[in-house]
Amino acid sequence: MNRQEVVTHIIGDRNISPRDKGVAFAPSNIALCKYWGKRDEELNLPVTSSLSISLKNYGAQTELQLSDEDRVVLNGKRVSPDDSFTQRAIRFLDLFRLDEQMRFTLTTQSNIPIAAGVASSAAGFAALVLALNDLFQWDLASKELSILARLGSGSACRSIYSGFVQWHAGCAKDGMDSYAEPLESVWSGLQVGLLTLSDRPKSIGSRAAMKRTVQTSVFYDIWTAKVKDDCAQLQNAIHQKDFERFGTLSESNALAMHATMLTACPPVLYWIPQTLETIHRIWALREQGVDVYFTMDAGPNIKLLYLKETEQTIVSSFQGVQRIAPFTPTDNTVNIEDVENLP
Ligand code: PMV
Repeated sequence: MNRQEVVTHIIGDRNISPRDKGVAFAPSNIALCKYWGKRDEELNLPVTSSLSISLKNYGAQTELQLSDEDRVVLNGKRVSPDDSFTQRAIRFLDLFRLDEQMRFTLTTQSNIPIAAGVASSAAGFAALVLALNDLFQWDLASKELSILARLGSGSACRSIYSGFVQWHAGCAKDGMDSYAEPLESVWSGLQVGLLTLSDRPKSIGSRAAMKRTVQTSVFYDIWTAKVKDDCAQLQNAIHQKDFERFGTLSESNALAMHATMLTACPPVLYWIPQTLETIHRIWALREQGVDVYFTMDAGPNIKLLYLKETEQTIVSSFQGVQRIAPFTPTDNTVNIEDVENLP
């Protein structure tokens, strides 16, 4: 099956009657047990399962309307049709047009600190799928929405939900068993701290870096075995609210992902000197008894994991840290002030 066939299979002969506009919010998410490597490039099917935490009200608020031409507006500004962001969104929308004339205006407000290396495409594609569901009144189940979001960007399938989320790798060729589901656990004291160390564009995108790692790293098979183990153990740590175990596993998983990248040929290295300096600072704090751990994605920036009671130490130790409380009850809408204060 290709992407179009998956979309047709899921939407089927639903009674399609577009309303004026579709509106939706989706949170960004950070993987604690990472997805690194595809078994199918077209359908974004992963080699392994993964586990993430959604960032509550940090994400994308999207509005979709039918219009006379395709238009993409991000944070109040129209994005050029030649921009890769617009082209990726339009290629995705191509999968959902009812006829050749159908055009969309996609308006997205994102309050994710894009420079912090938090996967903004995950929230973007998840919000877009939810907005399509609202516009066409498909009334799809979460599992189906998760599969559609995955077609836009793998990790987007986890952004359909809040809290802890597991993406089942699945094994079917058509990917119908590769979707995300929320875990029931709530951990109210858990905090995530975003540390922006660099806002320069990455030297290599995650799609190309993943492919190179799968094809050339001699550690890749070891990585897949570790992920299986880490995902199971992380679920236990979450269930038992064992923070030391939770932090140790998340940190170890992120470092192992970067180790597979380093052993790719040619190597992929996202770290900058400040990354290493920050890691040493985190480890020094831990030596002093401060419970703080980190995770990292395909970039040089660091995400801290800590508990509410450690917050003051975190704020005084890491200048400019952006604090997110994934389980604190808040209104799930984008705060426009946050959008305006983006770096
Ligand atoms: O979904 P993508 O193609 O943006 O890849 C995400 C890869 C990582 O962020 C490094 C790991 C993950 O599981 O989110």
